[in-house]
Amino acid sequence: MSKTVLVSGGAGFIGSHVTVELAQAGYDVVIADNFSNCDETNYRGVCKILGKELPMVPMDFCEKASVYSLFEKYPIDAVIHFAAFKAVGESVAEPLKYYRNNLLSFLNILDAAKHNGGCNVLFSSSATVYGETEDLPVTEQSPRQPAKSPYGNTKTMCEDILRDSVQAYPGIKGIALRYFNPIGAHPSALIGELPRGVPNNLVPFITQTAIGKRACLYVFGNDYPTPDGTCLRDFIDIVDLAKAHVSAVTRMCAERMKEEYEIFNIGTGRPVSVLELINTFERVNGVKLNWKFAPRRAGDVVSIWADPTLAGKELGWHAERGLDETLKAAWEWEKHLAGI
Ligand code: WQD
Repeated sequence: MSKTVLVSGGAGFIGSHVTVELAQAGYDVVIADNFSNCDETNYRGVCKILGKELPMVPMDFCEKASVYSLFEKYPIDAVIHFAAFKAVGESVAEPLKYYRNNLLSFLNILDAAKHNGGCNVLFSSSATVYGETEDLPVTEQSPRQPAKSPYGNTKTMCEDILRDSVQAYPGIKGIALRYFNPIGAHPSALIGELPRGVPNNLVPFITQTAIGKRACLYVFGNDYPTPDGTCLRDFIDIVDLAKAHVSAVTRMCAERMKEEYEIFNIGTGRPVSVLELINTFERVNGVKLNWKFAPRRAGDVVSIWADPTLAGKELGWHAERGLDETLKAAWEWEKHLAGI
């Protein structure tokens, strides 16, 4: 019998790609989203890719009663939790909004899981929990550092909440996936990243500059202690990232976990500089970007990339798509949005 996976925040960038991969792997997916940070574009794209309508529950995970009724209505074998605020800068300006939303939604899910006798819970964590470190690449054993933003703190806190819940409540099992920098879009160009307002992240800023929505791309800092003076990141293709979730859910549902709470880095293991990313985008898409150097951005770490060995060994997962392919997909998505 097929398993049912609840995807909170399933209409968002990562959630929509994960939904597609899960459904294509044979899972029954229930999407729930409050559309606070997205519209229905990605949900419609998901249905088009799959050629069928998926159950979509418009709801807020901060409302406990709604979360309980969701767990009553569907036979949920696993939940993947994406429904959270994610703007680093905004979280510094409005910490209470971030702590309330990101913690309460997760507490409600765990409460409902406990109430139902347990559940497999996959939490979308982030490389941000490693903070600034010179010990690179980072493994899952690398120490976590105090986060530089309330957003980052909520990731660390939710990891701990999951770990403690797994320990205390029989039947709850947990996996935290620590994403590096997810970029790109589905090869169909029907789903992708849809930032509201001015993008904070590099790739949407690049594609919006290329399409003419932004006049100039600013590269934050050219004097970092890196080969070309710009920051190094581990850019992971969104479809590859989504597939890691299928592997993790399958591991949980098939009861193949070695511990009841596990953590995996999800990255390529390859550091790429901001300039290298820009140059690659220009080359593979045949476009010229208007960019210039600007001062460093507060809160940026110099370099971070993953040691993804554990995910390879335990999940059988490896990043497969190359940077060229990923950046072509990101551009196709931006053109799709512009109707080109
Ligand atoms: C990457 C590099 C910038 C924009 C953040 C969160 C992380 C995760 C992903 C998501 C940096 C540089 C960027 C621009 C630039 N969370 N840059 N010009 O900061 O590594 O990670 O997003 O929800 O938790 O912290 O990603 O894409 O913002 O930046 O030069 O206009 O690109 O300085 O070196 P980051 P990013």
